[in-house]
Amino acid sequence: MTFKNILLSKKDRLAQITIHRPKKLNALNKDTIVELSSAFEALEEDTNTKVIILTGSGEKAFVAGADISEFANFSEEEGSRLARAGQKMLFDFIENLSTPVIAAINGFALGGGLELAMSCHFRIASDNAKMGLPEVSLGVIPGYGGTQRLPQLVGKGKAMEMIMTAAMISADEAKDYGLVNYVTKQEELLALAEKIASKILRNSSVAIHAAIRAINSGFEEGINGFDVEIDAFGKCFGTEDFKEGTSAFLDKRKPNF
Ligand code: COA
Repeated sequence: MTFKNILLSKKDRLAQITIHRPKKLNALNKDTIVELSSAFEALEEDTNTKVIILTGSGEKAFVAGADISEFANFSEEEGSRLARAGQKMLFDFIENLSTPVIAAINGFALGGGLELAMSCHFRIASDNAKMGLPEVSLGVIPGYGGTQRLPQLVGKGKAMEMIMTAAMISADEAKDYGLVNYVTKQEELLALAEKIASKILRNSSVAIHAAIRAINSGFEEGINGFDVEIDAFGKCFGTEDFKEGTSAFLDKRKPNF
């Protein structure tokens, strides 16, 4: 598979996707969204990939938003098609991947860029990062899940303020809000992402998949997350990983998942 707007690299069971349109601050045009979707799909199918890090190229931006030049002349119908297709193809797809995805926010994460980071399973940021949903300053609202995921992560009041003011927050503020888990120096960001990934890699990927599903189900309309958890918990008992994990503990050795 060859890509124009993203870079894909693999180190053992850890994959890294880098959004690579540095001259446009990695803004998400249609081609980039399609490439990202294909890359995530391929990594999900690759049984050897157990964690994915998503970051942006260069030192300035993770992603400075959806590509404004592409939708400036859109009609209502085209606008809703853009949001629907993007959500399905990329944002909802990432959130529901069985492979954990860590967003390493290395600079501006604005609009669709912050929405992309929020669709990842969790986020870390460099201390120069700036985050915001500036859509209302363009006369539009977040369309890639931002009005739903931001309140889930930071609470309704802070989400309302961030969206209404269109203001950017600093990496430290984002950490206070619970939007990112850690803040570090830019040159140490990927090393931190890899360190966290290495902790995840020690664990059962089958159980991690079940945990992602159970956690996400709590945010789905009409679904009882506790019931999903009970079902998924029970199913774990039928897996090889459960046998390996429990016998390794009893044998006082490290599990080999
Ligand atoms: N869509 C399309 N192009 C974008 C973009 C976006 N979301 N964000 C940045 N770019 C482009 C700029 O047009 C510029 O291209 P050019 O050199 O061909 O003119 C290039 O990226 C560099 O951006 P520039 O604005 O010159 O950098 P800056 O350091 O002065 O400002 C930002 C950085 C992030 C503050 C500014 O680019 C910005 O406000 N971007 C839009 C953010 C936004 O509203 N995103 C939400 C979209 S829904």
